[in-house]
Amino acid sequence: MDFQQVFGKPPETQASAPGRVNLLGEHTDYNDGFVLPTAIPQSTTVQLGLSSDSHHHFYSENLNEQVSILDINHSPSGFASYIFGCIEVLQKAGYKIPSLCVYVKSSVPMGSGLSSSAALEVATLRALRQLLNLPIDDVEIAQFAQQAEIHYAGVQCGIMDQMASSLADTEHILFLDTRTLKRRVMPLPDNAEILVIDSGVPRTLATSGYNQRRAECEEAARSLGVKALRDITDVEVTEKLPEPLRRRARHVVTEDNRVLEVLQGVTSERFGELMNASHASLRDDYEVSVPPLDTLVELLQKTPGVFGARLTGAGFGGASVALVVAGEARSIATYVLEQYKQAGYNGQILVPSLELSDAA
Ligand code: GLA
Repeated sequence: MDFQQVFGKPPETQASAPGRVNLLGEHTDYNDGFVLPTAIPQSTTVQLGLSSDSHHHFYSENLNEQVSILDINHSPSGFASYIFGCIEVLQKAGYKIPSLCVYVKSSVPMGSGLSSSAALEVATLRALRQLLNLPIDDVEIAQFAQQAEIHYAGVQCGIMDQMASSLADTEHILFLDTRTLKRRVMPLPDNAEILVIDSGVPRTLATSGYNQRRAECEEAARSLGVKALRDITDVEVTEKLPEPLRRRARHVVTEDNRVLEVLQGVTSERFGELMNASHASLRDDYEVSVPPLDTLVELLQKTPGVFGARLTGAGFGGASVALVVAGEARSIATYVLEQYKQAGYNGQILVPSLELSDAA
């Protein structure tokens, strides 16, 4: 079913936004720290038209599901919550949004830690900007999108995903200082490409675990007398904290330092070592990995042609990201997925995208 078939008329405008994969700097953004994401080829497209009644109507092609907002005081759940959230944050900022018909289709994998929600939010806001000529720039789009996620999807997230979806492309890495929003577009490391494999383990407890980690970091920062953990550069300082705050803070401080090292310019080999160290820190100090993801990452790390590998996104399941020798991602994925299968799990290659390149 396309827009016309669902709503009985063609859309007035449409916009797209990509998912993202984070190469380094995990769980640092809500600590005012540093991140290194890049956009992935998969994206979400949102088509908009005006509604002929006084209600919003949202349709998801992927889910084949329609949601009508009959009472704006009652937030919807699922995919509709993100769209509704975007409309509401714009209204609260003083923009008047008419009743809309919204059609969504997406090739961004859901639940793998590749920011399908940020892609939906940014695509929705871009389409609204176009339809209504809103005077908002790409950074403000990311900020509105983050507010939608926090207040309408219940995740106390940082701003990395929305900034990446709004500002990154697939050919570069976006270095972002999440406190100042200063950024630098960097080339991918030499002779390297990105391989993303889904662990096949759905992200469970992600929202509660995520919000809990964030609260722990805020408590650690308070105990150390700083505004945010970004303000600690010497990891020794975290030693005086009680557990588990000590390990949580140690992850954030070392992870920020790893990103800053990349910013100085490193070889692909060193970049890979930093990714490996990041995974160990996320597994042991931050405790957001799960055994299948550890198995997948270990298999990747010991495969020739892999510079480094780690879990990506919030963790608690989802995908791994690896930096591999250019041109070898697919053969490495086939090899690793076979061994992953022998270990009893079923993974899937997500980037390079088989689907998108077959269609091309
Ligand atoms: C999720 C959040 C981001 C970030 C990552 C972890 O993707 O939405 O803001 O915190 O987890 O790095």
